[in-house]
Amino acid sequence: SKQKLWGGRFTGNTDPLMHAFNQSLKYDQRMYAADITGSISYARALARAKIITQDEQNRLVEGLKLVLKEWEKGEFVIKPDDEDIHTANERRLSELIGPLGGKLHTGRSRNDQVATDMRLWLLGQVSDIENSLRGLLRVMVERAAKEIQYLMPGYTHLQRAQPIRWSHFLLSHAFPLQADLQRLQQLVPRISMLPLGSGALAGNGFALDREFLARDLGFQGIIENSMQAVSDRDFVVEFMMWASLTMTHLSRLSEDLIIYSTAEFGFVKLSDAYSTGSSMMPQKKNPDSLELLRGKTGRIFGNMSGFMMSLKGLPSTYNKDLQEDKEPLFDTVDTISACLKIAEGVIATLEVQADRMSQALEDSSDMLATDLADYLVRKGIPFRETHHISGRAVALAESRKCALKDLTLADLKGLSDKFDTDVTEVFSFENSVQARCSIGGPHVKMVERQIEVLRAAMGN
Ligand code: ARG
Repeated sequence: SKQKLWGGRFTGNTDPLMHAFNQSLKYDQRMYAADITGSISYARALARAKIITQDEQNRLVEGLKLVLKEWEKGEFVIKPDDEDIHTANERRLSELIGPLGGKLHTGRSRNDQVATDMRLWLLGQVSDIENSLRGLLRVMVERAAKEIQYLMPGYTHLQRAQPIRWSHFLLSHAFPLQADLQRLQQLVPRISMLPLGSGALAGNGFALDREFLARDLGFQGIIENSMQAVSDRDFVVEFMMWASLTMTHLSRLSEDLIIYSTAEFGFVKLSDAYSTGSSMMPQKKNPDSLELLRGKTGRIFGNMSGFMMSLKGLPSTYNKDLQEDKEPLFDTVDTISACLKIAEGVIATLEVQADRMSQALEDSSDMLATDLADYLVRKGIPFRETHHISGRAVALAESRKCALKDLTLADLKGLSDKFDTDVTEVFSFENSVQARCSIGGPHVKMVERQIEVLRAAMGN
């Protein structure tokens, strides 16, 4: 333990199993750049407070940049006693520039350091994820614009309900994702709060200028309370909650598309690029991409709820339990980043089987029963009665084993004398969707409006 940064008060050695148990370097090394960025600003703040000279600052910064280069080139050599990314970087810095390296940590604790690194690192990831989400949304919106003429059955309870546009369906999944984009952007001001300069818990003993640190590191604000600064991981939780909700949206979209890609529905055909085969059944083409999107949602929920369990009973300030923030956060970032790219690829490449969609409509003209009731409403009959009359028409067609649209005018007149020759216009799926022309409906103008709203929200 003499080799360890904190070894001074120790006489005994760490149990090897304990050393491995405590070591986070294998996963936190991915924050190497954030750690060095934070340290460079900290060195500048030390010089501004005259704790070190300008020359010492320059040598520290030069040394830190050398350490960064080693990581970037894959040349950084990890030593067995390196506990985490913070101790590893500091150990290497001192090897490179000598005892001056030991001045860097003046007034700083790994507690304010790690909290700063996590926030810096996550901010970088959030902007990448934002771009991926935009990419997915763009593909959905452009598909919706291009394929606006396709009609399909819309479902409630997974039962054929009313005709809709394929684009209307697609956009019903795009809007929640657009809200996710907004929510992600709204996380940024809270992630971007600076813990550095809070010391271990009781603040910085060298009067460092935290406003300078915040400016230098590009943080939007400063955490006011040093005790909270070192213990707050709400930004990690919030991000994982955000990811859980976003994945819920991807999962529900996936579920719909899995169903639509079955032979029974056949509304969409997944591209080979996003499907896999069976090792036994030669004919199989499985929608594995969509199933994985659905399945990984559970894993993201697990990351979020698992870490919340770690937090719930913690006493104030830093406790080593907080090191358990990393693996779930990193896994969440990796998983959702991949999911967004896969979802974009699936949507961009799937083939719409418009003929199967219209066949499904033709097979079920009783989906126009609501339109039949609405027809009688326009002839002055109260809706409650028209609903009943239309229901009797459906029952009559069923007993005749014919389609609703194949009932004769005489049949219909037997149910209400308000039926007339113009009733044939009811039996058009196109007329049905076009009749729904209030904002939010599947009328072509209203679907175009949705596309415009989404394009405007995304700034293009
Ligand atoms: N690896 C630690 C973590 O991720 C760094 C902070 C350690 N602080 C301490 N006082 N032991 O949380």
